[in-house]
Amino acid sequence: MTSYRIAVLGGTGPQGKGLAYRFARHGHAVVLGSRSAERAESAAAEIRDRVPEADVSGAENADAVAAADVVLLSVPYDGHDELVDDLAPVLEGKTVISCVNPLGFDKQGPYGLDVSGGSAAESAAAIAKEATVVGAFHHVSAVSLWGDAEFLDHEDVLVCGDDPDAKQVAIELARTVTGRDGVDAGRLRLARQLEPLTAVLISINKRYKTRSGIAISGL
Ligand SMILES: NC(=O)c1ccc[n+]([C@@H]2O[C@H](COP(=O)([O-])OP(=O)(O)OC[C@H]3O[C@@H](n4cnc5c(N)ncnc54)[C@H](OP(=O)(O)O)[C@@H]3O)[C@@H](O)[C@H]2O)c1
Repeated sequence: MTSYRIAVLGGTGPQGKGLAYRFARHGHAVVLGSRSAERAESAAAEIRDRVPEADVSGAENADAVAAADVVLLSVPYDGHDELVDDLAPVLEGKTVISCVNPLGFDKQGPYGLDVSGGSAAESAAAIAKEATVVGAFHHVSAVSLWGDAEFLDHEDVLVCGDDPDAKQVAIELARTVTGRDGVDAGRLRLARQLEPLTAVLISINKRYKTRSGIAISGL
């Protein structure tokens, strides 16, 4: 597998840190990004505690992106557009993977938000026009990612995007999580279906007190 240098924006949160841990233990170099270099470095130290040989460091978001060829967006949807807009100049030419799920919660539980750009991934693509955006890792839970299982081998990572090469990067990186290639789910606009599907998983998790995932049959 190609070794990538991956910036994880939002790398101090559970999802970014969990994916960074999976990437790092499979030999990818990771820079956790944060609005605070100190917070990023402290999250990187947590990963190094678990994987002493890992090449993981922390930096402010823009510095993390500058050092990377692949960028994972793992920040809340609230504030996402502003962050992507700020970083658009440094995102130029990079493969950007978004796992951002624009969700709301009310008395009835979780639901997918209406997103003016269609989906978070499409919004990122519209804002950072010189980056190549794909969507992936929307449905893997942060708790499972940080857990002890070698692979989340009962789950699939669905990947959507318009650029085959960028999609292939996410398909390969999925191996670090599930032990097998991610599933090519189609064009980037399908992020409109993939992102809010997470609301269904959260609802199932609540009802059955579990951490559900997605597995595709018939492949
Ligand atoms: N948690 C899950 O199980 C899960 C599963 C699948 C997908 N996701 C998606 O992955 C993304 C991250 O999830 P999470 O649970 O890790 O989120 P989180 O803990 O709420 O946020 C992650 C990090 O984003 C940064 N951040 C917060 N607000 C920001 C803003 N306005 N501008 C820039 N950076 C900001 C913070 O880092 P600093 O303060 O250090 O900058 C924070 O530690 C979300 O979009 C979520 O929908 C989550």
